[in-house]
Amino acid sequence: MSNANSFRMALGRFVTGVTVITALDENGEPVGLTANSFNSVSLDPPLVLWSLARRSKNLSAYESASHFAVNVLSVDQKAISDRFARPVEDRFSGVEWEPGTGGAPVLKGCAAVFECSKEQCYEGGDHVIFLGRVESFDEENRVPLAYHAGRYATTAHYAGEFTNGPFQDDYLLYLLARASSLASAEFHAELASLGVPVPMWRILAILSGSEGHPVGEIAARALLKQPNVTKIVNRLEELGHVRRTADPDDRRKVLVRITPAGEDLVASLIVRAQAHEASLLGTHTPAEAEILKRGLKQLIRRLAERQSGLLFEAPEMEAV
Ligand SMILES: Cc1cc2nc3c(=O)[nH]c(=O)nc-3n(C[C@H](O)[C@H](O)[C@H](O)COP(=O)(O)O)c2cc1C
Repeated sequence: MSNANSFRMALGRFVTGVTVITALDENGEPVGLTANSFNSVSLDPPLVLWSLARRSKNLSAYESASHFAVNVLSVDQKAISDRFARPVEDRFSGVEWEPGTGGAPVLKGCAAVFECSKEQCYEGGDHVIFLGRVESFDEENRVPLAYHAGRYATTAHYAGEFTNGPFQDDYLLYLLARASSLASAEFHAELASLGVPVPMWRILAILSGSEGHPVGEIAARALLKQPNVTKIVNRLEELGHVRRTADPDDRRKVLVRITPAGEDLVASLIVRAQAHEASLLGTHTPAEAEILKRGLKQLIRRLAERQSGLLFEAPEMEAV
């Protein structure tokens, strides 16, 4: 590996955020580029810096501009980072922004913005270092976009939470069980107030919209023991919410199918479950919620694949 490459790779070990630095050029047109060289310099006076490659076609614009804005990107703005790092004709097209201090564009949806007057420019080898005085700043409760080893990343957790805490506080199985038990407790209370037992809800939710399932499969999916499922299915059959029918593909097999009355009941419960889920995820950004669900789905799929060869009966679980 060449020296330059290994230097670049070693620098990439330093985790940074991602910013778009904006300004107005000599004609008053907005310019902007993606930069991770941003850093804080001084608190009093409030100073920040960033560096620009000398080969940048916008070097003269930043050198002549009286102000620049540092837009700290959020995890939802990966596309903006890509856009402002590529030779796109108009980088601002389709991007929401408004003029900030000295006219420098302030982008919408960022984790933070620092609006600066230019204090100094310094020679920095093949880069020019810009020192800015922060005239005003703003911060939003958004997850910042991170950059590490040449790839975008997210700050999934904070160092103190996994290096200093007790083992259990960062142990995946404990986190899954605790999150499930806390979240389930809320929804189970709602079901109890409606007089719907949790196993009944799980069974109806599994059958909803399906062509029916054998009791054994329902038990595995609902994390319940088969004799319990049989009892609840009997009760649901008495209430007219399900019925047993022969499997059209194999007449010797019996399928449990949901009836229209059962679908009516479960539809109202599903609406409540979705509202509860929205309230659980309400403190997350849509991107965080997506990452959380995607991670759990991947985990379930991989574990199911790994264990598909093993014959076992899942232990009955109280949560979910
Ligand atoms: C994550 C990331 C960080 C970057 N950081 C910088 C930087 O700090 N300084 C710089 O000059 N270019 C940086 N670049 C590259 C510029 O964004 C890119 O070369 C851009 O095309 C330069 O803009 P220009 O076309 O207006 O010259 C970065 C690119 C990415 C993807």
